[in-house]
Amino acid sequence: MSKITSSKFIMTVIAAAGIQLFSVPASAEVDAVAAKKLALANSCLRCHAIGKKKEGPSYQAVAYKYAGNPEAAEILFKHLTSNEVIKASDGHSERHKVIKVKSDDEIKNLVAWILMQ
Ligand code: HEC
Repeated sequence: MSKITSSKFIMTVIAAAGIQLFSVPASAEVDAVAAKKLALANSCLRCHAIGKKKEGPSYQAVAYKYAGNPEAAEILFKHLTSNEVIKASDGHSERHKVIKVKSDDEIKNLVAWILMQ
């Protein structure tokens, strides 16, 4: 294993541990279909793609940004529920969309899925 590969692996392990600390489903328990459906229903994919930057960052970039951060799940949960002001890739500012769900578990599942990308 090269140095870069092994440190990336360690980051992934730490990230996975962090997700569990905040009682978000472990990657084996993430319901990817439900996560994608929820993202579609909330037009998240209008501004985000998994591997490509649109108006917002790609979910891979988000997962990379938060790799190894034990608070990632908590931060993103808040991000999706707090209507905070954000800056788009073209420089304009707006309030981020607040997700509409029936239960917090749906948000936790989506956050865990984003962090797995
Ligand atoms: C109108 C466009 C738009 C829509 C719709 C949108 N987002 Fe975003 N999102 C953005 C932008 C722009 C950013 C970048 C914010 C920044 O870097 O300050 C962002 C950031 C994020 C981040 C990263 C936050 C962080 O702390 O780095 C996540 C995760 C995210 N969005 C998820 C979602 C989800 C899930 C939905 C659907 C409920 C959604 N977004 C809908 C534009 C959008």
